[in-house]
Amino acid sequence: MEYLTLNNGIQMPLVGFGTFMLNGETCTNTVISAIETGYRMIDTAETYGNEKEVGEGIRASGIDRKELFLVTKVNFKSYENAEQTVLQSLKNLKTDYIDLLLLHWPFANYYAAWHSLEKLYADVKIRAIGVSNFEPDQLLDLIAYNKIVPTVNQIETNLYCQRSTERSWMDKKQVAHMAYAPLGQGNRNEMYQEPAVVSLAEKYEKTPAQILLRFLTQKNIAVIPRSTKPEHILENFALFDFTLTNAEMEQLSTLDRKEPLIGKPETPELVEFSLTW
Ligand SMILES: NC(=O)c1ccc[n+]([C@@H]2O[C@H](COP(=O)([O-])OP(=O)(O)OC[C@H]3O[C@@H](n4cnc5c(N)ncnc54)[C@H](OP(=O)(O)O)[C@@H]3O)[C@@H](O)[C@H]2O)c1
Repeated sequence: MEYLTLNNGIQMPLVGFGTFMLNGETCTNTVISAIETGYRMIDTAETYGNEKEVGEGIRASGIDRKELFLVTKVNFKSYENAEQTVLQSLKNLKTDYIDLLLLHWPFANYYAAWHSLEKLYADVKIRAIGVSNFEPDQLLDLIAYNKIVPTVNQIETNLYCQRSTERSWMDKKQVAHMAYAPLGQGNRNEMYQEPAVVSLAEKYEKTPAQILLRFLTQKNIAVIPRSTKPEHILENFALFDFTLTNAEMEQLSTLDRKEPLIGKPETPELVEFSLTW
């Protein structure tokens, strides 16, 4: 595993396991399977409604809690009472600390929520705090008028949505880049068929998904792919035994369409939809 050092000095794995839309026994069992495969970072959220199942998977895996990097998010509907919500997340996850706690969306009173996170961080229940889905202007505003600079911004990032502008602002402020939907959420399968991706997969004897994930991790973007299939869980973790050349990285960079599927709701329907995440 490779790691990113966050702006508060803590180390975060570059590859983790996403749990959006995983519920019940499927969630528990895939978390166990991911931990057995070697994943040490697990991403969940209050809104996914699966923190208990994630906690159960961690418990059942028998892993030492200290070996894990646990990420969860506060939903914007809880921003007015974020502290209590986080205490509930700790209970759900059956743990006494969270490694990385994020504000899920820049909606509602996220300033109040950020102040609660700053307080929880000082109380040592949380090792790092950060944000998700923050556009550069929102991120810069939060940084300018608060004490703690977010360690991470988790934003939709994949081959068709590479986020170079967002990234340059995040780099300036030392906010690490974490990609959600790194495989296009299963809705952008043409990514797997891009000729450049297919030919690199052949060259390195890897799958297209591994090329797509390696492209991101080589740019120091943490990835949290989700899968329920053991073979996908395995391949998404096996990313560090090959390296794309600079020319190959540049070739893949040209495929950016700057098209988020989720992360930049521009119509009322999409905003409505994203509020359920
Ligand atoms: N902060 C936010 O607002 C936000 C929003 C969305 C997601 N997230 C987080 O980011 C995580 C990842 O994003 P996501 O779950 O939306 O989408 P994703 O990881 O990009 O894509 C998941 C889809 O890709 C398929 N897949 C996985 N590995 C594959 C492989 N090796 N080959 C072919 N297909 C593969 C999965 O199907 P199979 O099960 O069949 O493998 C599933 O349909 C989430 O689980 C969640 O933790 C955060």
